[in-house]
Amino acid sequence: MTERKQGDVARRADKAPMATAWDYAPAPESRDIVRIQERYGLFIGGKFVEPLSGERYTTIDPAREEPLSEVAQASKADVDRAVKAARGAFDGTWSKLRPSERAKYLFRIARILQERAREFAVLESMNGGKPIRESRDVDVPLAAAHFFYYAGWADKLEYAFPNRRPRPIGVAAQIIPWNFPLLMLAWKIAPALAAGNTVVLKPAETTPLSALLFCDVLRQAELPPGVVNIITGDGRTGAEMVAHPGVDKIAFTGSTEVGKAIQRTLAGTGKRLTLELGGKAANIIFDDAPLDQAVEGIINGIYFNQGHVCCAGSRLLVQESIYEATIAKLKRRMRTLRVGDPLDKNTDVGAINSKQQLDKIASLVQSGVDEGAEIYQPPCKLPERGYWFVPTVFTNVAQSYRIAQEEIFGPVLSVLTFRTPDEAIEKANNTPYGLSAGVWTEKGSRILAMAQKLRAGVVWANTYNRFDPASPFGGYKESGFGREGGRHGLEAYVALDDA
Ligand code: NAI
Ligand code: MG
Repeated sequence: MTERKQGDVARRADKAPMATAWDYAPAPESRDIVRIQERYGLFIGGKFVEPLSGERYTTIDPAREEPLSEVAQASKADVDRAVKAARGAFDGTWSKLRPSERAKYLFRIARILQERAREFAVLESMNGGKPIRESRDVDVPLAAAHFFYYAGWADKLEYAFPNRRPRPIGVAAQIIPWNFPLLMLAWKIAPALAAGNTVVLKPAETTPLSALLFCDVLRQAELPPGVVNIITGDGRTGAEMVAHPGVDKIAFTGSTEVGKAIQRTLAGTGKRLTLELGGKAANIIFDDAPLDQAVEGIINGIYFNQGHVCCAGSRLLVQESIYEATIAKLKRRMRTLRVGDPLDKNTDVGAINSKQQLDKIASLVQSGVDEGAEIYQPPCKLPERGYWFVPTVFTNVAQSYRIAQEEIFGPVLSVLTFRTPDEAIEKANNTPYGLSAGVWTEKGSRILAMAQKLRAGVVWANTYNRFDPASPFGGYKESGFGREGGRHGLEAYVALDDA
């Protein structure tokens, strides 16, 4: 059958003309709700100040390649100022506040985030390229949920650590990536504040705007000045934060390469560290899995947020007996993915976050083709401007190929097969990473057995990319150490004395 195009009309002598192909009409969310300033300073001590560095750079909309604002590149002197403000707030107010008072501020922040959810969702999609459907339904509600969750812990810390007396650590330097800008901010700030610490946080260089808007939430919540300081800049600013002697704890989410560098810098300093790094997760489909649901899980696992997800299900392991059927269904489903304008409510896959990331994805995909894997990309019309990559699946992949070994951090799936559960385990664990995994099967006993043997911090069963503030998240091996979320997430932000 030939492909039907929009506007095709079937004409039959005995019937009225009838459209035979139905396309979505564009449904763009309005940008008017966000007010982006022409330029931003650094949020230090409760107000925006001019950067001492005098340097600024342009942050853009990756879907349009258009400038959005000028933001500051914080220098060593700026970092010093922010750390001193955080120290002053720690000593002066925050560590002395009654825990229930700390909770009050966190509840306020959570509520204000909910009230301003639409504004945050639009801004997040404009600056990061992710579909509004995701920023609206996932990023922003989850960010608010994290503040609510940790607000609840603030006055119950002694119950979190029975027979121990928890005490805050001091000033936390927090460095976050560009794939979930607001959500990672919430993961970092909420537990730190609940436990009585103050923070200096740096968003990633490509996605600073939601963190800068968050400063306005802090103003509305009347958070005491200096408790949260937000500074912008690239890796040089991050390195200054790590090296600053006045910092007691570092929380980092980003590449394994930078995580290792941070660990080297901190060796012997006594500063505390948690690292949440890359991944190359196996999404494992057994022959008794409900196949249609599993295909949805595969799609969600790798094409959610353009695959810019540390826990993405980027290696699909399919049991050999259902291989053909799974791949056929998967390709059919891929043909229905809508790639394009992140602000369009119908969009499934948005823009790639940066030119740099697009180049990295393209070069890894080329390596897959060169090494001999079979590539499939559905027909797809991409916008002319902006950074885009067509959802891609590779079959005929050997475990040694770079596309099976390295984190691509894009909408690219590599398919491998297995015959027995043991073989699935062996292949799934054959990676330097260990952040997450997915298991699809009807058998509860098999889920438990697999979860025991998979070296991954999170194992999802018959679902994927499901997050909850009450559930700890973190990795093994080169995926890092420490947990975020849940009671475990508090541990990184307290010193424990004997009761
Ligand atoms: P990156 O690790 O360089 O950046 C993450 C954050 O660290 C940013 O805020 C950045 O400014 C900061 N940073 C960079 N160099 C630093 C340094 N020397 N000291 C302290 N902070 C520093 O990640 P990048 O370059 O944006 O992405 C490269 C690759 O890393 C991606 O293709 C992806 O594979 C992986 N990645 C993994 C993430 C995850 O969630 N696990 C998040 C972002 C990237
Ligand atoms: Mg980098």
